[in-house]
Amino acid sequence: MELGMSDQFRQIGSYLGHLVKARNRHGVHSPFVYDLISQVLRSSTELPEFGTIEALRDDLLDSEQTIRVNDLGAGSRVFDLPVRRVADTARTALKTPQQAQMLFRLARYFQARNVLELGTSFGITTLYLALGADEGTVYTIEGCPQTMRIAQHHFDQLKQRNIVPMLGSFRSKLPETLQRMGEADLVFIDGHHAKEPTVDYFGQCLTKAHNDTVFVFDDIHWSRGMEQAWEEVKAHPRVTVTIDLYNLGLVFLRSEQAKEHFTLRY
Ligand SMILES: C[S@@+](CC[C@H](N)C(=O)[O-])C[C@H]1O[C@@H](n2cnc3c(N)ncnc32)[C@H](O)[C@@H]1O
Repeated sequence: MELGMSDQFRQIGSYLGHLVKARNRHGVHSPFVYDLISQVLRSSTELPEFGTIEALRDDLLDSEQTIRVNDLGAGSRVFDLPVRRVADTARTALKTPQQAQMLFRLARYFQARNVLELGTSFGITTLYLALGADEGTVYTIEGCPQTMRIAQHHFDQLKQRNIVPMLGSFRSKLPETLQRMGEADLVFIDGHHAKEPTVDYFGQCLTKAHNDTVFVFDDIHWSRGMEQAWEEVKAHPRVTVTIDLYNLGLVFLRSEQAKEHFTLRY
């Protein structure tokens, strides 16, 4: 499905607005955010394991396989058929290596033990998060059984043992998953890109969040609804610092910080 004309204009407008607002790290006076930029956003760790995960991505991109997709999210703007090529989904739906490696550094920097991912897909970001939180556990929810089967195969292939895959809709699996987790240190919301569900999942996760919990939202400018969801999250009384990277939004609850919203070029 092509982007409608008004969506295209809105996205161009919001991206230009982002560029105008975006600061670099030298314009940032918060030591917490400055260190985060230096050590997580701008840093570029290279581990041999990254190559192993990226080899899985390459296999997906070369795959001839098709799967029947059970799409419980906001739908795809690119595909509207239930049978899709794995390679096409891998090309359009997964975080880039740069973004996925940033998630790894984020998990490691905050020494996350209880990580939650909404939207496993083929498990690429799950594997990066599991590597970053190697002393902890990554709970990951996916609603499409055939997609999850491929992810599970990847977890087995890499013998990544600290992943708990939860098959089912976010709506049905989130309460049970949060119950099992007890506390959430890092939450990555990467699916069901619509306003109400995004705000609802955020609210549910907040019940298990603590002062140092980090939230990462994907595609905060994907649609008007997602931009509204992002504004609601920013305005939430428990939220202090947010960082808008355009494709991703980071949210912190640290009560020692003044409420401040950063826009950074990433
Ligand atoms: C953008 S993909 C995740 C990509 C993955 N995190 C990565 O970058 O490697 C989003 C996934 O969320 C799943 N999803 C979307 N909405 C869902 C819902 N309401 N319940 C369960 N799964 C959902 C989709 O099936 C899709 O596989």
